[in-house]
Amino acid sequence: MRSFEAEKFSQILSLLKDKSPQSIGNLSNSLLIEPNKIISVVSIMSKLGIPVQVYGQSISLKFKSDFLDSRIIEEQLSDMCRQKKVYLRTFELIDSTNDFLISEKTDTSKIAVVLSEIQTQGRGRRGKFWQSPFGSNIYMSVKWNFDPREVSPAGLSLVIGLAVSKALWANGLRDVKLKWPNDVIVSNKKIGGILTEIKTGVANELSAVIGLGINFKMPAGSGKNIDQPWTDMCSETNTRINRNDVVACLINTIVSYLEEFRSFGFDAFWESWNEIDFLKNKKGVVSTKDGELLAKFNGITDQGALKIITDTGDARILHSGEVSVRVK
Ligand code: BTN
Repeated sequence: MRSFEAEKFSQILSLLKDKSPQSIGNLSNSLLIEPNKIISVVSIMSKLGIPVQVYGQSISLKFKSDFLDSRIIEEQLSDMCRQKKVYLRTFELIDSTNDFLISEKTDTSKIAVVLSEIQTQGRGRRGKFWQSPFGSNIYMSVKWNFDPREVSPAGLSLVIGLAVSKALWANGLRDVKLKWPNDVIVSNKKIGGILTEIKTGVANELSAVIGLGINFKMPAGSGKNIDQPWTDMCSETNTRINRNDVVACLINTIVSYLEEFRSFGFDAFWESWNEIDFLKNKKGVVSTKDGELLAKFNGITDQGALKIITDTGDARILHSGEVSVRVK
């Protein structure tokens, strides 16, 4: 989508989220967009799976959600987030929150957090597409700058997994496990994933762009293309949870864990990770660029690498990179 269209798209969607239905005339007057342009943007919305309906001159959004609200999120941020100057930005639509933070110059003295209601090019690990339907799940990226001479990024994704699992617990979910390196598992099904990308920053610093996709309330039909068992937060708890509250809790926990990681490295987290290691003592298949091998999973090293025993009895250590594992 061209940037002009994306801007109009966001403006129309934002108005429809606040008040629906809206007449085409009213949208046109409020946003200074020609009526035919409004119709064409609404048709793009439909193609992206956003439930908008045109009935005569009236356009309505047939969808109720705890839409992202930066004011509600900001109100709940911790003192540490305020001290670390978390900068929050929410989008209606984006290609990928990770891509945005990778390309966008942000103030390096702040931790930038970006969220979007929908992603058109959501990316998962190993080049996979990340299903990112409108208004229902959490698509969030955090940019964190660090000096690699002070802290090694090995284990960073695992630490974020722990932060996510703590936030899920705080919101009433149980049986939360982490599947090395980046999958968050609840009741044996994937509920979320983490995609960490490192780029050079200013001076000696590196920037980690940490992307989180958490299924909050997957719309019926959107999950059918996911190639593994999955679940979402609303199905896993009996309490009523609000997406903005969950986002605030995630940001608070992530910022606190990142600062602990900066000070103490992965050592401070190894034990907690070990306690919720989904793979430990299970058998499965490891896929590397050289092929597949059968293995027993044997926990993780103090740097967060995976320890395996192959079916021929060799002990090996795998670093996350492009390795993927599945349980048999
Ligand atoms: C995985 O494959 O399990 C990782 C999924 C990461 C998805 C998130 S959604 C927000 C951020 N933006 C992206 O394009 N990807 C990550």
